[in-house]
Amino acid sequence: MKPKITPTGKEISLTDDDIIVSKTDLTGRITYANRTFMRIANYSERQLLGIQHNIVRHPDMPRGAFKLLWDTLKSGQEFFAYVFNMTSEGHGYWVFANVTPDRDANGKVIGYFSVRRKPKPAALDVVRPIYKQMLEIEKAAGAAKATDASIRFVQDTLKGLGTDYERFILSI
Ligand SMILES: Cc1cc2nc3c(=O)[nH]c(=O)nc-3n(C[C@H](O)[C@H](O)[C@H](O)COP(=O)(O)O)c2cc1C
Repeated sequence: MKPKITPTGKEISLTDDDIIVSKTDLTGRITYANRTFMRIANYSERQLLGIQHNIVRHPDMPRGAFKLLWDTLKSGQEFFAYVFNMTSEGHGYWVFANVTPDRDANGKVIGYFSVRRKPKPAALDVVRPIYKQMLEIEKAAGAAKATDASIRFVQDTLKGLGTDYERFILSI
């Protein structure tokens, strides 16, 4: 079960050498976590294996970001995103994540794979206000319409800039 953790408002940073790796099954349950993941998120392997990856979800992350993640993975594509996660103590930590489908020898998707590293501070200056705005839009839209409303905001904004999600994320 997902523990109830109160965010502390404190942020911790990855170092340039920290690479956080995890694997999940098709439903997002963790099947592998490397040592760096356990150290930064402050969970033991036993606390992570078999548990939904939302165990590290921070409430400040807009739901639309995860809808984009799952829609992209389900279409067989890889996904790049800046994600604000939460440790077992309630501290926040930013990562730049590359999530990919994990395939067997026949090319069948058997789960997902995520590799995360320290984000560039300049990129976070761009992403923080976008996520803040997405969260506000989600709150105003109400639960049922939240993700659609915030994704529409992101897509309209990117269209206005003459770009799309992946090009934008990889350019900041
Ligand atoms: C391989 C993989 C890695 C993921 N990594 C994270 C992560 O680091 N943080 C996170 O909040 N969600 C991550 N997710 C998404 C979660 O499965 C989940 O969709 C998200 O936390 C939202 O959860 P909720 O809708 O239950 O609130 C990952 C999913 C996959 C498939």
